[in-house]
Amino acid sequence: MGIRRTKIVDALKLTNYGETINVKGWVRTKRGNKSVNFIAMNDGSTINNIQIVADSDKFDENILKDITTGACISVVGKLVQSQGKGQTVEIHADAIEIYGTADVNSYPLQKKGHTMEFLREIAHLRPRTNTFGAVFRIRHNMAIAIHKFFHERGFFYFHTPIITASDCEGAGQMFQVTTMNLYDLKKDEKGSINYDNDFFGRQTSLTVSGQLEGELAATALGAIYTFGPTFRAENSNTPRHLAEFWMIEPEVAFNDINDNMDLAEEFIKYCVKWALDNCRDDVQFLNDMFDKGLIERLEGVLKESFVRLPYTEGIKILEEAIAKGHKFEYPVFWGCDLASEHERFLVENHFKRPVILTDYPKEIKAFYMKQNEDGKTVRAMDVLFPTIGEIIGGSEREENYDKLLARIKELNIPMKDMWWYLDTRKFGTCPHSGFGLGFERLLLFVTGMTNIRDVIPFPRTPRTAEF
Ligand code: 4AD
Ligand code: MG
Repeated sequence: MGIRRTKIVDALKLTNYGETINVKGWVRTKRGNKSVNFIAMNDGSTINNIQIVADSDKFDENILKDITTGACISVVGKLVQSQGKGQTVEIHADAIEIYGTADVNSYPLQKKGHTMEFLREIAHLRPRTNTFGAVFRIRHNMAIAIHKFFHERGFFYFHTPIITASDCEGAGQMFQVTTMNLYDLKKDEKGSINYDNDFFGRQTSLTVSGQLEGELAATALGAIYTFGPTFRAENSNTPRHLAEFWMIEPEVAFNDINDNMDLAEEFIKYCVKWALDNCRDDVQFLNDMFDKGLIERLEGVLKESFVRLPYTEGIKILEEAIAKGHKFEYPVFWGCDLASEHERFLVENHFKRPVILTDYPKEIKAFYMKQNEDGKTVRAMDVLFPTIGEIIGGSEREENYDKLLARIKELNIPMKDMWWYLDTRKFGTCPHSGFGLGFERLLLFVTGMTNIRDVIPFPRTPRTAEF
């Protein structure tokens, strides 16, 4: 078979009918009759299959028998304009080589319409389905869009460490990293562990955010972003939480909270538009299969400007809704941390477009946020989205050394871990702002998938780390 392989995405665009080409891929279905076989084949380069027409008299019966759903084959044949509707070209096979068979009795992806729960149990094979092929192609495209967005605007991609000794969000949800022998842990008289003996000579964890190191870079390079995995040991089994997720964190010197909101809005719109412009087949497929409102929702976000509203006003709206008889599961009062039902009420019921909520009570936000003059709130901003709730969290940062130090002491954050962070405020401090976008939350929105476990190849959640 001395011909160069053509990817199916390219083969489907060819018009040089009559020419011989080679395609390779996995069999989706085979149907036909005694004299002719129709094989739908996919190689992952596109959601679309190419149809292979194989005359029974041209091929050994045993070869045809082995061409079953899931088998991997290489086909050499003539490119022919297709008669069937919805497809442009097909291949009339002259030679078929079987790379790998897939036993009909044990290959789990035989029929269509498997549940998402079942597919999660076979996450090693689910990329072979149309749905997950589409999701993971979109995931790739979103990553490219993100790098392109920042690169075009002069941001530098900055790599922050994954192993760290500081808890950026201060929520105590960190996975510890150690090489100590857990079967033989030596404790001192007080019952404490001496981390002097550990690999780094101190207690370390997987990072929950690259922000603190990102701030070091922003106050030197001006505008940076991180894009990497982050880890949170929060025991929340929701359709929106992962223990390992990817986060994009831009950080910009001289930006205030309004610049930060402008950046967030422009950024999300860029990503959504990118999906509509560059992943049309996949987005259309997901729209038609699962969520007839998907494309409309994506286009809707591009048209509207996001509402910008202080937290205090948001609470008033929720309280008014309750007074009018709306029922929430969780209580609403000034100072409460909003649950996703509250966020979604503001976005989906009240404003009917994305909302950026600002100026949250300082008690429910992290230590680094810029304190407002009222002494009660901080210059935080959460971007709230339809169907998702919080998609971005960020703030203007407290750049005043004394105020930041006071807050750190108030919260009992160990100072020995923070000296390098405080140095940015000691030497040439400047106003600056940033935010974090949860990559999988963005993907939930763009794909219309309803569970965050279905937009990351191998999800990590409480009690699951298979594959
Ligand atoms: O709001 P968060 O906790 O903010 C930070 O980590 C800041 N350091 C960001 C910054 O200002 N540079 O997280 C940011 C976003 C959330 O809005 C959400 O989209 C996502 O990260 N996120 C999660 N996504 C999936 N699973 C989880 N457990 C998540 N926790 C947060
Ligand atoms: Mg948050």
